[in-house]
This record gives sequence, structure tokens and C-alpha cells, in this order.
Amino acid sequence: MTNLIEKIKMLTSVKQTHTKIIEGSKITIRDKIFIKVFRRNTVKGDTDHHYDTFEIPVKRWTTVLDALLYAKSCLDGSIAIRYSCRMASCGSCGMKINGIPRLACYTKVSELEGDTITCTPLSNFPHIRDLVTDFSQFFDHHRNMKPYIRNEYADIKLEEENNRDKKLLREFKQTPEEVDKYLQFSYCIKCGLCYSACPTAGADLKFPGPQALAQMYRYLADNRDNAIKERLNIVDNQHGVWRCHFPASCSVVCPKGVDPALGIQLLRGHLLANSKNEKKIAELFNRDVQER
Ligand code: SF4
Ligand code: FES
Repeated sequence: MTNLIEKIKMLTSVKQTHTKIIEGSKITIRDKIFIKVFRRNTVKGDTDHHYDTFEIPVKRWTTVLDALLYAKSCLDGSIAIRYSCRMASCGSCGMKINGIPRLACYTKVSELEGDTITCTPLSNFPHIRDLVTDFSQFFDHHRNMKPYIRNEYADIKLEEENNRDKKLLREFKQTPEEVDKYLQFSYCIKCGLCYSACPTAGADLKFPGPQALAQMYRYLADNRDNAIKERLNIVDNQHGVWRCHFPASCSVVCPKGVDPALGIQLLRGHLLANSKNEKKIAELFNRDVQER
């Protein structure tokens, strides 16, 4: 009888795990996973961290955010996480999942290898508590890029204040080709995954980072904006666009296909012909042009 009970226990404790290929993607079907969560309350003065592990029942469609919310609702209400939309739109739920910066709401547990998923806070951001980091500096970099259209003929408020000729104000029409020049860069949701993956952002706090530089290119490439010189001056310095070593990890982790590394290279392309700081590379470019 005891043997039979042991046998039943053994059979029921076997994990239901198997792998399937669905629409070309390898999916691991499990009925439970373990989620290992980074714990530290930096605001309260904790200097050491530890991990808490929770067993979570899952379905094929369970996301890492669902798993964390299950742990928070049913097992430990003190876990700190940040999220809002649950649909990869707000950019709030960024964290490192198995060491890679990802959106928790956009990562299904069935897409990940292994039965234990490790969640840690994003690198390169000051830590607050558990999986929550401080985005103040990241948003400061974004604001420094003046992320809005700058064109005196489009600013109605300015026109009213200065009583300028209303005829100067005009409608800005764009062709699909003109929109296409910046469209992909405008998909950024400011999730910070690229910033977390960037080795230069980790080494130089003054470096704006891939997100901010890609946004700079987004406005530079928009033909409604006419502050090109001012824009290039903001990024043409020793902590600016030249600090990027092009590891391109930013583009690999971006969940929206922005490709910030491409934006940085395109910005550089503009600067090669316009550099104010007499960069050697710009001098070489000018010499090359004169010699032709
Ligand atoms: S460029 Fe991509 S990874 Fe970086 S903040 Fe924008 S959406 Fe996130
Ligand atoms: S909760 Fe909004 S992007 Fe994940």
C-alpha cells in the first residue's frame, strides 16, 4: 500500500514539460515554473540583495509579468514591480529576464529555456526597490534632445505672443516618403531596455544613450523641424554621439524595432559634413572633398 502511494506521488510530481514548434518558434509547454526575483530595498538602506523563488502555475500564454503578478497577489505582496498597459505600449515593465533586458509583459514563459526564470532590475539605472529602477536621469537625457518639432512657422502660440504675420504660419504637408524617414524612430516607447544594454551608458553618465540619440535623429530627419544646427551641436561633443562604440546591443533588445544603433550611425553621417568641433574625421572628410 505504501509503495502504491509513493508511486502515485512520484507520478503526480513529474513536471508536464515538453517542447513544440508553433509557427516556427520553439515553445516549451509547462504547467509550472519557478520565478527567482531579485530583492533589495535600496531606499531603506539595504546594501545586500537576495533572491526569493516562487513556484507559479503557468499556461502556454502566461507572460513573465503574469507570473510576477501571481507571486505578488498570492505568495508575497511585498514584491515591487512597475507595470501599466500589459501590452508592450507603456514601456514600464522593463527588467532583465534571464540576464537580457526585456519587457515582462511581452515575454512569454513558454519562450524561455529552463524551468527557472530569473528577474533582475535593469542595469545602468539607479536602483530603488526589487525590480524597480529610477528613470529620472534617462528622461533628463531624453528632454535634453528637445524631443519636439522646432519650427517658428509652426508655433501658433509664439505667433500670438509676437503678433507676427499670420501668413507666415503654414500647414506642413508630408509625403509618405518623408514620413518614412523618421517613422521607425518614432515607435520608441521609452522603456529603457536599450539604455540598460548599452556598455557606454554604463561607463559614462553624461552619454545620452541610444534612446535619446535615436530620438535626436527622429527629429532631425523630420522635414517639419528646422533646428538642424542646434540639434547637431547638442550631440557633437566628447560625451555625445562619438562615444558610441557600435556594439549594437541596443538594437538587439529593442522590443519595438526602433534600431537605435542605426539612428546613431545616421546622426554621425550628418555630423561628418557638419562638425563644428573640428573632429579629425570631419577634417579628413573635408580634405577628401577638396581634393576631388
Ligand atoms: S529605442 Fe527601443 S529599447 Fe530603447 S527606449 Fe525606445 S523602445 Fe525601448
Ligand atoms: S506593462 Fe506596459 S510595456 Fe509592459
